[in-house]
Amino acid sequence: MGQLNGKIALVTGAARGIGQAIAMKLAAEGADIALCDLQADWLAETAGKVQTLGRRAQCYTADVSNGEQVQAVVAAVEKDFGKIDILVNNAGITKDTFLIRMTEADWDAVLNINLKGTFLFSKAVARPMMKQRSGAIVNVASIIGLIGNAGQCNYAASKAGVIALTKSVAKELAGRGIRANAVAPGFIKTKMTEKLPEDIQKKMLEAIPLARFGEPEDVANVVLFLASDAAAYVTGQVVTVCGGMVTA
Ligand SMILES: NC(=O)c1ccc[n+]([C@@H]2O[C@H](COP(=O)([O-])OP(=O)(O)OC[C@H]3O[C@@H](n4cnc5c(N)ncnc54)[C@H](O)[C@@H]3O)[C@@H](O)[C@H]2O)c1
Repeated sequence: MGQLNGKIALVTGAARGIGQAIAMKLAAEGADIALCDLQADWLAETAGKVQTLGRRAQCYTADVSNGEQVQAVVAAVEKDFGKIDILVNNAGITKDTFLIRMTEADWDAVLNINLKGTFLFSKAVARPMMKQRSGAIVNVASIIGLIGNAGQCNYAASKAGVIALTKSVAKELAGRGIRANAVAPGFIKTKMTEKLPEDIQKKMLEAIPLARFGEPEDVANVVLFLASDAAAYVTGQVVTVCGGMVTA
């Protein structure tokens, strides 16, 4: 029997990378999955993989930074699945450059998708979750939101914002039976990180006590725990998944 039998999970940024791994992990534990992403083609691929696991998957193409589209996705998921038990805010982007070169557009794009998108989806599911008096929200932050990073002012600020948002949502909604937690991955092997220059990748590897980059599944395992009843007494927390890079 899966840990999430009978549960409905909505995962954003589910078309590839960490989001796809999360969708598959939750499905493998028995959840049916609503998949949201900008990229319809890749999303269909994730849906196929979830269905191979014997679970229901439905795709919703939307931009997480667009309030109307987010509302429409949540309404459609409620109609299609009847409820939402788990929300995973995973969609995110980087637009790395040094502060003096960073444009307003670089700042806005990253803050809008990473932080505002997480706010919009959390707000949209809050009402239905409050009505059912249960729910789990898991936000994908980053260790960069804890420690900062040269060349990532926008990304670091967005992920620090996600962490503060998570803690606030946790305090606000705990009385309604809703938990909110964040995972803060370190360096995980995905399309997002494969574009980093080799010398930077080498430097990062040297700073990882467990001496390997993370796999998307390493993050998905922790998301599963936080989304499941095994974490029933855990809310407002940030769990780092970084091979020991950040230990405080
Ligand atoms: N890869 C890492 O090392 C790492 C480390 C820490 C945190 N993270 C975080 O993990 C999450 C997933 O990252 P990933 O490495 O799998 O990246 P990825 O680029 O492989 O996947 C991100 C997904 O988000 C989707 N997306 C982007 N903008 C969107 C929007 N406006 N609306 C809907 N979907 C959108 C993309 O289409 C893509 O499918 C991100 O929030 C990222 O910041 C990643």
